Amino acid sequence: MKIYRSALLRFADDGTPLYDSDGLLAIAPDAQGQERVVAAGSWQALHAEYAAQANAHILHLPGKLLAPGFVDMHIHYPQTDVLGAPADGLLPWLEHYTFPHEARFHDRSYADGVAEFFLDELLRNGVTTSLTFATSHSASVDAIMAAAQARGMRMLAGKVLQDRHSPDGVRDHTEQGLIDTETLIQRWHGVDRLGYAITPRFAPTSTPEQLRGAGALAAKYPDVWVHSHVSENLDEIRWVRELYPEARSYLDVYQRFGLMRERAVYAHCIWLDDIDRALMRETQTAAAISPTSNLFLSSGYFDYLKADAAGFRYGLASDVGGGMSFSPFRTMQAAYVVGREQHSKQGLSLKPGHLWWQHTAGAAKALGLGGVIGNLQPGCEADMVVINPAYTPLLARKTAQAQTLDELLFAMIVLGDDRLIEQTIISQAK
Ligand code: GUN
Ligand code: ZN
Repeated sequence: MKIYRSALLRFADDGTPLYDSDGLLAIAPDAQGQERVVAAGSWQALHAEYAAQANAHILHLPGKLLAPGFVDMHIHYPQTDVLGAPADGLLPWLEHYTFPHEARFHDRSYADGVAEFFLDELLRNGVTTSLTFATSHSASVDAIMAAAQARGMRMLAGKVLQDRHSPDGVRDHTEQGLIDTETLIQRWHGVDRLGYAITPRFAPTSTPEQLRGAGALAAKYPDVWVHSHVSENLDEIRWVRELYPEARSYLDVYQRFGLMRERAVYAHCIWLDDIDRALMRETQTAAAISPTSNLFLSSGYFDYLKADAAGFRYGLASDVGGGMSFSPFRTMQAAYVVGREQHSKQGLSLKPGHLWWQHTAGAAKALGLGGVIGNLQPGCEADMVVINPAYTPLLARKTAQAQTLDELLFAMIVLGDDRLIEQTIISQAK
């Protein structure tokens, strides 16, 4: 049994952050050999029971903070090299940068190289699970799944479905895209810690036939994820209205094709109305909030107050390469700014613990993986980060001055980056 002695951050079921300045985290393999949290709390309360055991291997991390690995609810691994490409908003950005780049992923060896770099970058930034788009090529899924499997990571990914309004090189065929999706589900879903996501790019780039087929697969494989984009940009919404005039709203397109359910995740959700928001809640569909992407592409601001009033699930996401950073600290900081900006009249200030929860336990819950990842409560898989809150002189000064947990977390959210992550630890399997 591994016993960590360190400052410890975790979350109660209702999202309240729990903090022990001198904490104990006990980790041991379960019956299948996967390392899980056995006990978490204060050293004082737990050490007699756990640290005194004959097989206890004690790891003392003075001055460090042990926290759940971050969960990125929406990212595009093939856009690692598209990050920072300038364009006039979403649709020109897709046309000029993203589609030409994604066309390269038919080549498995090219995809393998990017997948390895991408996973290195996630881990450097403390991200232990992501729900990622691949490209429309099956090879791009094989590359990321094989690379994540070799590292023992819990990773969710899927082949992009896009059978129209897409250039040669990324456009798939209506039927073949669906056949390939089912083949990949059977090849990868539930293998080790991997999960498959049925991934129509967004309503404009799939025919109604392809979306109908995606919905049929979503019904046939209820524990597979569904992953797409919705209501990101006003030009995009106008386009969807032309293509699907019978739908009440952009979100309603997905509902009509059976693509809203638990484990369905939609990036952005900026321009929803209250009927859409109620539908999100009723269907247990989740939103992946991507604030650095929304700022980069000038898409708009996610409405936290209306989301909370409706009561649907959400969590944070980088949306690299539309997003500007792999770092959860940059994403949490942008979410705070967006919350302020959207609600400046009401004066909404998202609480530091709530921001952190949105990128860990909250994101896991929104993915249907609550109690599995994103937390360090007993039973959770032991994916975690060792944070050095004193990495820069300014951080050392600010975190030393913090009087409350909110002040400590907020100093890291505002000032932190990849250098805060001293180590990322993936739950080992036998
Ligand atoms: N909508 C359709 N495709 C994409 C994409 O690759 N990135 C973002 N941000 N939005 C999209
Ligand atoms: Zn995206």
